[in-house]
Amino acid sequence: MQDFIAGLPKCELHLHIEGTLEPELKFELARRNGLALPYSSVEEMRAAYAFDDLPSFLTVYYEGMQVLRTEPDFYDLAMAYLRKAASQNVRYAEIFFDPQAHTSRGVPFDVLIRGLRRALLDAEKQLGIRAQLIMCFLRDFQAEYAMATLLESLPYKEWIVGVGLDSDEKGNPPAKFAAVYERARQEGYLLTMHCDVDQENSVEHIRQAIQDIGVDRIDHGVNILEDPALVEEILAKGIGLTCCPISNGIVTDSMKAEGIRKLLDLGVRVTINSDDPAYFPGYVQENLAALNLSREELLQVERNAFEITWLPRHIKDAYLAELETYAAN
Ligand code: ADE
Ligand code: ZN
Repeated sequence: MQDFIAGLPKCELHLHIEGTLEPELKFELARRNGLALPYSSVEEMRAAYAFDDLPSFLTVYYEGMQVLRTEPDFYDLAMAYLRKAASQNVRYAEIFFDPQAHTSRGVPFDVLIRGLRRALLDAEKQLGIRAQLIMCFLRDFQAEYAMATLLESLPYKEWIVGVGLDSDEKGNPPAKFAAVYERARQEGYLLTMHCDVDQENSVEHIRQAIQDIGVDRIDHGVNILEDPALVEEILAKGIGLTCCPISNGIVTDSMKAEGIRKLLDLGVRVTINSDDPAYFPGYVQENLAALNLSREELLQVERNAFEITWLPRHIKDAYLAELETYAAN
């Protein structure tokens, strides 16, 4: 089965680029930028990754990314991920980035987006992997800051396919960002947002995302199973979910494998992704392997993924054809 998954043409739709910052690169960037880290080795750093819920993870995640300072730092970060993804036969990725986690500590938007963009272009040329960027707003900051970030992104609109919403969901419902999302839609961005697993008011947040915001897809969202009418609604609308089993297994009580499988059985466009693989150990290959899915289910997961990508129809169809060729052989 590992070989079957390895050969499968894959798609990654839920991946925080800052969450791919492996300890080795963290040390390298700290050295390059003359920064001291509170760990003496890669092993010691990994041992300090002792989180068991979303807030405790986020503390380590934001602390770790402070070594990212210059355009080449962001380039190297994205290139390292794209190399790893290409080695796992990920054919296409939609990559989240958190601009406010950098602009809030003095890194210009222009610096970070140019580094990421240059890596995407080089990776497509050198590795044959295609990728697009999704700009996420930090939901524990004020909506006004998200709006300012949205406006700051407009000169780079051609480089960003859509917007997302991440960070700590507790007390930060989708409704807080309704005006930001409305403006993002007017600007031509596609819309997604995290509805993290087992949050306070999870189902109400999912409802707001679908009915009040009008998202094009949902990141995580497995709690939708608690409301069959909402499941019917996303089935009718074709809204996909980007699930992340290994991440779930660390920040909640389980990988939510049963729920993911149930959604798949119901015909929901479920996809399997890696979230923050430097922290929740496992890239797409390992996340797909974690669920013990059948070959037909694995193929369906990747069909779902390519189908809900934010790519033009003809490019989607080319990936789907590649997948069917693999299925037939
Ligand atoms: N930021 C990075 N990873 C995240 C996650 N899994 N949930 C919410 N915000 C995040
Ligand atoms: Zn996420």
